[in-house]
Amino acid sequence: MNTTWSPKSWRTKPARQLPDYKDQQSLESVEQQLSVLPPLVFAGEARNLKAQLARAANGEAFLLQGGDCAESFAEFGANKIRDSFRLMLQMSVVMTFAGALPIVKLGRVAGQFAKPRSSDKETRGDIILPSYRGDSINNLEFTQEAREPDPERMLKAYHQSAATLNLLRAFAHGGYADLHRVHKWNLGFVKDSPLGERYEDLAARIEQALSFMTACGITGDTVPFIRETSFYTSHEALLLPYEQALTRIDSTTNEWYDCSAHFLWIGARTNQTDSAQIEFARGIHNPIGLKCGPDLDKDSLLRLIDTLNPKNEAGRLTLISRMGHEHVEDKLSPLIQAVEEEGRQVVWSCDPMHGNTITSNNGIKTRKFDNVLDEVKGFFRTHRAEGTHPGGIHLELTGQNVTECTGGAEKIVDEDLASRYHTHCDPRLNANQSLELAFLVADELKHLRNNKSEKDYIKAAAE
Ligand code: PEP
Ligand code: CO
Repeated sequence: MNTTWSPKSWRTKPARQLPDYKDQQSLESVEQQLSVLPPLVFAGEARNLKAQLARAANGEAFLLQGGDCAESFAEFGANKIRDSFRLMLQMSVVMTFAGALPIVKLGRVAGQFAKPRSSDKETRGDIILPSYRGDSINNLEFTQEAREPDPERMLKAYHQSAATLNLLRAFAHGGYADLHRVHKWNLGFVKDSPLGERYEDLAARIEQALSFMTACGITGDTVPFIRETSFYTSHEALLLPYEQALTRIDSTTNEWYDCSAHFLWIGARTNQTDSAQIEFARGIHNPIGLKCGPDLDKDSLLRLIDTLNPKNEAGRLTLISRMGHEHVEDKLSPLIQAVEEEGRQVVWSCDPMHGNTITSNNGIKTRKFDNVLDEVKGFFRTHRAEGTHPGGIHLELTGQNVTECTGGAEKIVDEDLASRYHTHCDPRLNANQSLELAFLVADELKHLRNNKSEKDYIKAAAE
């Protein structure tokens, strides 16, 4: 690998999944405009996230990464951002309570606009058009004009990301995330379901604990953790002209950071060792994610780790496995073993969504909730067998009451899919399904904690 890196060195590498812009002048003008717009996040925040992820790598924290498959211009609004934010708060409370572990909250939000596609073209009847590639690139509508990549859309994505981040920062630090509001995070339509009730029980116990703590003098004034939270942003580092333009030198450390998000990941379709996206990611100092699919062999993975995390820094690299529910153990075990043998420090996170996408009987892209749960269970089982830390989970979810994945407590079936199917790309878990998954993860984390304390006890007794 060439050792000279610059924010534009990716341009010398094979760039897969990038749009073919017809108007190069317009592209250059947009790149220039983006390059002088303020950073969306600060390097110091990305470093804080990296430190949190280092804890997840050591089993002292757990990562919850979630949000839309693709954000959209049309569905942009405060309520939607609020609902997904509070769903993630709710899920973290459930997991923290059971696992007694801090949950690192990382949204797929404020920049998740560009999508890799398995095919460059989409065919409907006898019309063939360029595929939809996300709102920062083209428009979902099936016309030639809408599907033409337009560089100006990157500016719109930037401004929407800025407004989204502004609101998220206010939610995280302005009182909304105060633990005393734990009951209020229960979304209206979830409240009356069995899961909503299970959540209410837990919230009541948290309230009791808070009253006890207040009596002992531990309040939001003395412990900021009670009244506010940290919430970070992430998206796929796919659309490199956009990422390059937002890559800046941090004046404190003199290092490059991609200031479009705290965390960037490389998708399964662009994780080849020679890819432009890998070249870009290796030089920025943000924490990085790497999607690992069933085709990734251990030698390629080790090469990618060498490239992306040559100093073996804990928290720098999160490996996001997405094997499909039937292959978790046989595909993930060899990768874990290779990483362990080489003593590489990584966070292992599980994306149970992208290996489980199917087409329903009525031709709609969906996922079976049971398969999603199955992959998560397999992920925990595999780590248990290997003696390694399951460090996190990566989900496509929304706080909206959608019907995009089948199954779950509401028993959504294929025939229900069309009623509230709003995603611009992949099917997301709705709030009920997400909460159900959070309780499953919570049980797994509790199990881990009990096992760990038992092991510690036996070890201590033997000493
Ligand atoms: C995604 O996370 O939206 C995605 C496209 O995933 P993958 O690269 O794992 O297919
Ligand atoms: Co997706």
